[in-house]
This record gives sequence, C-alpha cells and structure tokens, in this order.
Amino acid sequence: MTAPPGLQVHGLRKRFGGITAVDDASMTVASGELHALIGPNGAGKTTFIQLVSGAERADGGRITLGGVEIDGWPMHRRVTQGLARSFQISSVFPAFTVLDNIALAVQARSQGRCAIWRPVVMRAAWFDQARHILDEVGLGARSEIAAGDLSHGERRRLEIGLTVATGARVLLLDEPLAGLGADESGPVIELLQSLKDRTSVLLVEHDMDAVFRLADRISVLVSGRVIATGTPLEIRAHPEVRRAYLGESTA
Ligand SMILES: Nc1ncnc2c1ncn2[C@@H]1O[C@H](COP(=O)(O)OP(=O)(O)O)[C@@H](O)[C@H]1O
Ligand SMILES: [Mg+2]
Repeated sequence: MTAPPGLQVHGLRKRFGGITAVDDASMTVASGELHALIGPNGAGKTTFIQLVSGAERADGGRITLGGVEIDGWPMHRRVTQGLARSFQISSVFPAFTVLDNIALAVQARSQGRCAIWRPVVMRAAWFDQARHILDEVGLGARSEIAAGDLSHGERRRLEIGLTVATGARVLLLDEPLAGLGADESGPVIELLQSLKDRTSVLLVEHDMDAVFRLADRISVLVSGRVIATGTPLEIRAHPEVRRAYLGESTA
C-alpha cells in the first residue's frame, strides 16, 4: 500500500484483571481507507477503539497517526491531531438546535486559531461550515429543530457530523448502525460511503452486509488477536475466519 498511513497500530495490548481484551493487535488504516474491524462479541473491538482514541490506556504497543506517535497522549490531544471517536449520545446537546450542536463542535476545533478581534466574522464562518457539514450528513433540512427531537437515525447522523466537525482525518466508529431499523440504517450507510476517500474510517460494525459493502479492507479480531486482514473477498474466503466467525454468524 503506497498511500501514507492514516493510522498505524502495532502490538497493542490491554488486560482487564485476568482477561486479555486486546492481545498484540496490529493494524494499518491507510489514508482514505474504510477499514472494518469485525469479530464475535467480547473479541475486544470496543477496547481496541478505546485504546486508539485514548479513552483507555494501553498496557503496550505503538500508535501513530499521520506518522506521529500519539501513545500516552490524552484523548483531547489526539482529537487535535485529527483522530475522533464517534461522539456518544451524551455529547449531543438535546435542547440546542442541530445547527448549534455542529457549530459548537466547529468552534471548539477553531479555538486558538481564530483572531479574537474578529469574533463576528468567525461566528459567521463557524455557521457556514456547520451548514456545509449538515448538508453532507443529510440533515440540512433539520438544522433549526432541537437535537432532542431528531429520530434515532437522524441522531446517529448528527453524531457522525459532530465527528466530522472536529476536523478529523481518522474517524473511529463503534457500531454506528446498532439499534437502527432498516429504514434508518440506509441513510447512515450512504453517509459512511460518502465519507470514504475523504477521511480514513475505522468501523466496528455487526451488520455484515454493510461491512462487506463499505469496507476497503477488513480485519478480524478473535480473543483480542487480529487473525486476518484483507479485502472483503479475501476475508469471505479465509478458512480460519469462516470457522471462527463468519460460519457462526451465517449458520
Ligand atoms: N472496563 C472493563 N473492565 C473489565 N473488563 C472489560 C472492560 N471492558 C471490556 N472488558 C472485557 O474485555 C473483553 C473485550 O470486550 P469488548 O472490547 O467490549 O469486546 P467487543 O466490543 O468486541 O464485544 C470482554 O471479555 C469484556 O468483558
Ligand atoms: Mg463492542
């Protein structure tokens, strides 16, 4: 792969008491790649995302983002470097409009870079960017309603929009389709498709149809270990993966 690496993880490890949740896991998410991380329940997928985002501290391993080592960095510094984990429900302000939620995230990113003596101009710029992001995530027509009044699927798109608003070059998404009905997951899948190429995405998802449709490459995690990495075709044909995981879910 010749594209510069967006995210490189090498030999990542994490134990919780007697459980090794992530066990010497390595993975590269190339620039502009959508890389899916799949595996059975309890395989360590969420822990892997937590370690990369900085929400949990790894016991060992190396993480680089755009070639810069980010091990030991606190989460907010990783965000500044361009790594963003999909915002959880709690970071949406339900009483604020959809537009204000995004504008706040844009503003948080711009802080320190803006000229303090031109606040009105900056405000306009934040809202312009926020409107642009809302169009991208398909919420342009919903900008003035309270975030708390969004449907489940719209809320999920707002959360992804917040991640985009941080200016992230690498998005970490943990089960963005979970809990969505078929009619709601379609637009979220389309949104993920549209993010591809522009942004690197590390996607943890149980919906195998979506994963095999969206992913450039897939890594399979079983008991904290990456047992295979490859294109969707390669993963589908991989005997160990079929035995350890796919067979089980399609049986
Ligand atoms: N904070 C924690 N404390 C103790 N054990 C944990 C914690 N988080 C995860 N685990 C354990 O680590 C393993 C991997 O969990 P997790 O990363 O949530 O898997 P997945 O997301 O693939 O379902 C499981 O055995 C789980 O019980
Ligand atoms: Mg999980």
